[in-house]
Amino acid sequence: MILLGVNIDHVATLRQARYATMLDSFNVEPSVLEAARAAWRGGADSITLHVRGDRRHMQDADAFLVRKEIPLPLNLEMGNTTEMVDLALRLKPDYVCIVPENRQEITTEGGLDVMLHANELSLNIRKMSEAGIKVSLFIDPEVCQVEMAAKLGAPMVELHTGCFANSQGELRTQEVTRLQAAAEAGANAGLHVNAGHGINYANLEDLAVVPHLHELNIGHTIVCRSLFVGLEQAVRDMKAELARLF
Ligand code: PXP
Repeated sequence: MILLGVNIDHVATLRQARYATMLDSFNVEPSVLEAARAAWRGGADSITLHVRGDRRHMQDADAFLVRKEIPLPLNLEMGNTTEMVDLALRLKPDYVCIVPENRQEITTEGGLDVMLHANELSLNIRKMSEAGIKVSLFIDPEVCQVEMAAKLGAPMVELHTGCFANSQGELRTQEVTRLQAAAEAGANAGLHVNAGHGINYANLEDLAVVPHLHELNIGHTIVCRSLFVGLEQAVRDMKAELARLF
């Protein structure tokens, strides 16, 4: 059965919108920990959170609290920096997903260029692997990127589904074909192949033809639905769709 990683960054974004400068206030809400608990009750297979270099949503303390209190695997998304590797080595999440980070972006745009950053990536993959953390690289669905990720020793990749999500008609078909080829290459190289970004309740059906997918990381659409049905139910709904389609 394909697994569901629930990304709860938006819960922290909402909190920061009001309390960024008063995080020790007794009024602080919503709680990232309660969100992780609700996702767990709804059937999430893992919790994903992204601690960005600028700490614009998740704070280090959020990551440590979720790590301590939630018995699900924790997936830390992070930039490929020494600061973040140090954080990961202290936090010891089950998985780390290395993503590119640009200061001005609203959310992660594009995948890592594994060729361009091969030296630093291989060093950081080794450091974290030696600490027992399974490292994933967030890459565009390109066979060459997948093969390079495997060459650098990453046991896992996450295929960027942003272009898939933002396309329609013939372009959507082309994106599905790219994802199929990249997933095939990943499986041939012995990698766990995950996917994420922009996946929602509506486009999931088109993604279901992509083979070898191990886990989907989904955030925005689940948090949006949670406004109307609650987070636990929104996660439950996504799990039901995954069971129906995959
Ligand atoms: N995977 C990665 C690597 C991401 O950066 C994000 C967005 O934070 C997601 C998955 C989840 O994307 P979405 O919020 O669009 O579901």
